[in-house]
Amino acid sequence: MHVREVAAGSVTLSVAEAGEGAPIVFLHAFPLTARMWSAQLDALPAGWRGVAPDLRGFGRSRGAVPARHVADHAEDVLALVAALDAGPVVLAGLSMGGYIALECWRRRPSSIRGLVLADTRADADTADAAATRVAMQGRAVREGTAAVIDAMLPKLLGATSRTANPHLAVQVREWAMANGADGVVDALEALRTRPDSRVTLASITCPTLVIVGEEDLITPPSLAAVIADGVTTAALTRIPGAGHLANVEQPAAFNATLARWLHTLTP
Ligand code: MLT
Repeated sequence: MHVREVAAGSVTLSVAEAGEGAPIVFLHAFPLTARMWSAQLDALPAGWRGVAPDLRGFGRSRGAVPARHVADHAEDVLALVAALDAGPVVLAGLSMGGYIALECWRRRPSSIRGLVLADTRADADTADAAATRVAMQGRAVREGTAAVIDAMLPKLLGATSRTANPHLAVQVREWAMANGADGVVDALEALRTRPDSRVTLASITCPTLVIVGEEDLITPPSLAAVIADGVTTAALTRIPGAGHLANVEQPAAFNATLARWLHTLTP
């Protein structure tokens, strides 16, 4: 795996890459970075090139202006896809990454040959959820990124991981702490203002893989079922022993599911 900077539209994204072949672009969750995809980049099936950006405002990716809407991130991702110059890509987004992948589909479906929507949801924030985001923005400003990740950690990982793999919480916290409070505040704004994607689901015509950890408390299996029911081309896989970060918590099961599905795509 190597990391390089890629000029994508108006921003410069730090991008981790591995493998050679058809591109699969991995979009990370909030408040993490591309590092959450390490176990996928390290085990890509033959014929696939993994590309995992730090989204604008996260990790080492910066723009002249902040990204405060999922549309800003989607434009960055589509500019990255154009910069790859390799035709339509598979977009694999987890949670926030899934929100952005759905926005990319709305904006430029011709750039997407397949979607992986992992531990994510199609609906927008409720009024309560939006109010919680605003409160969290205040905490990020006053107390920094640590306050946000420490509030989220108990729900980010499933019960199995918290008991059997306590080191994962340390690892996830370290990834989050690579993000400055400004980027976290901007991303909370993007999460809070994201559109309702339920109406988008019926428009999706590319092969789509929906994955969810059975112990996901943030976007539980019932919400993955909404996506799978709404997308006529979707297949749904539930990962036992995983919470919200299914790819981090059960990488072998996640990778096997992904590899099986990638194998079904026409070259
Ligand atoms: C994420 O994992 O990206 C966040 O939990 C998404 C959200 O809070 O809506």
